[in-house]
Amino acid sequence: MNIADIRTDYKLMTLSESRVAGNPFEQFTQWWQQAIHSQIDEVNAMTLATVTKDGKPDARIVLLKDFSEKGFVFFTNYLSKKGKELAENDSAYLVFFWKELQRQVRISGPVKKISPEDSDRYFYSRPAGSRLGAWSSPQSEKIASRAILEENEKTYLEKFGEEIPRPEHWGGYAVMPESIEFWQGRSNRLHDRLLYSLQEDNKWKIERLAP
Ligand SMILES: Cc1cc2nc3c(=O)[nH]c(=O)nc-3n(C[C@H](O)[C@H](O)[C@H](O)COP(=O)(O)O)c2cc1C
Repeated sequence: MNIADIRTDYKLMTLSESRVAGNPFEQFTQWWQQAIHSQIDEVNAMTLATVTKDGKPDARIVLLKDFSEKGFVFFTNYLSKKGKELAENDSAYLVFFWKELQRQVRISGPVKKISPEDSDRYFYSRPAGSRLGAWSSPQSEKIASRAILEENEKTYLEKFGEEIPRPEHWGGYAVMPESIEFWQGRSNRLHDRLLYSLQEDNKWKIERLAP
C-alpha cells in the first residue's frame, strides 16, 4: 500500500451556521454527547500543544476529565516537561480527532492550574495503583531503567500503605478557551469549518473558515 494513496472522502454529516449553537460550549456539549453515543475509543484523548519560552512547540496526548465554561480540564505532573512549559508560557492548544464522526475540534487559550480542592477530588477518585504512580514516576525525567519505577512504587507503597495522598506536584490544569473551531469533513476536501472567537465584550463571534 502506497502511503500517498491513503485517503478518505468524508460524507457523513454537514455543519452550518444556521444550525450550530450560539455558544461554543453548547456546541461542544452536543458533539461530545454524539461522540459518547458513537462509542468512540478513547473519546476523551486529546492532543495538548504547548510552547517553550523560546517559541518551540511541543505536543502530546492527555485525557479530558471535565469541561465547562470555566475550562477544559486535564491532569498531569506539574513538574513534567509540559508543566514546565506551561509555567513559562501559559498558551495552549487542544485538538480532538473523532474519526468515526469525521470531526475535529481545536481549542486555544491560556491555561491555569485548577484549585487544590478540585485536584484532590479527582485524585482521590482514582484507583490506588494510579495514585501510587503519581508518586513513583518523575514524569519526563531521564531514568536509567524501568527498575527505578518499580523500586519507587515499592518504596511509596511501603510508605503510604492504602492511604496515598495527592503529591503537591500532581494536579489539574484548565484550558480557558479564547477560540474553538469545529471541523466537519465533507466531500472533495470542501470541509465545513466554523470558528468561535471570544470578543472583548465576552460574546462569541462565529466565522466560517475555508477548508
Ligand atoms: C491515550 C493517552 C492518554 C494519556 N493521558 C495522559 C494524561 O491524562 N496526563 C498525562 O500527564 N499524560 C498522559 N499521557 C502521556 C502523555 O502523552 C505524555 O507522555 C506525558 O504526559 C509526558 O509528557 P511531557 O513530557 O510532554 O510532559 C497519555 C498518553 C496517551 C497515549
